Amino acid sequence: MAIQKTYSMIKPDGVRNGHIGEIINRFERAGLTVERMELGMVTPEQARANYAEHEGKPFYDGLIAYITSGPVVKMVISGEGAVAKCRSLMGATNPAEAAPGTIRGDFGLNMDENVIHGSDSPESAEREINIFFN
Ligand code: RTP
Ligand code: MG
Repeated sequence: MAIQKTYSMIKPDGVRNGHIGEIINRFERAGLTVERMELGMVTPEQARANYAEHEGKPFYDGLIAYITSGPVVKMVISGEGAVAKCRSLMGATNPAEAAPGTIRGDFGLNMDENVIHGSDSPESAEREINIFFN
């Protein structure tokens, strides 16, 4: 499998609840590499661009408000099959349905406060890396 890059972001609840170290540890144990990393706020413009596919959905406004509500950790992660590996470490979107041992299964609180974001395809990854690191 080819070396890929993906964009991942520890959401405000993940930072607030002290899960940064554990999440990065899980990525590294899975053979992934942290290429770039920054702790800071997401601007409303970045939030809208990142979640453009969800514009108009009932949860969109809440999602934008939530992701801009506190500091996050923005990361570029690389490795073999990084997009899928990252998604599999994250677990299902809804923490109530996420398997134990996944990041969301272990630390997720609810549908908004689900700890982490990860790109869903190599194309999304390229787009999202440009939003946050250019
Ligand atoms: P993410 O983009 O944050 O990595 O999450 P995902 O791919 O697993 O899920 P996605 O469908 O892209 O949804 C983005 C975020 O929107 C919130 N959401 N709420 N109430 C709802 O039905 C609903 N659906 C999605 C979640 O916080 C999800 O992470
Ligand atoms: Mg998504």
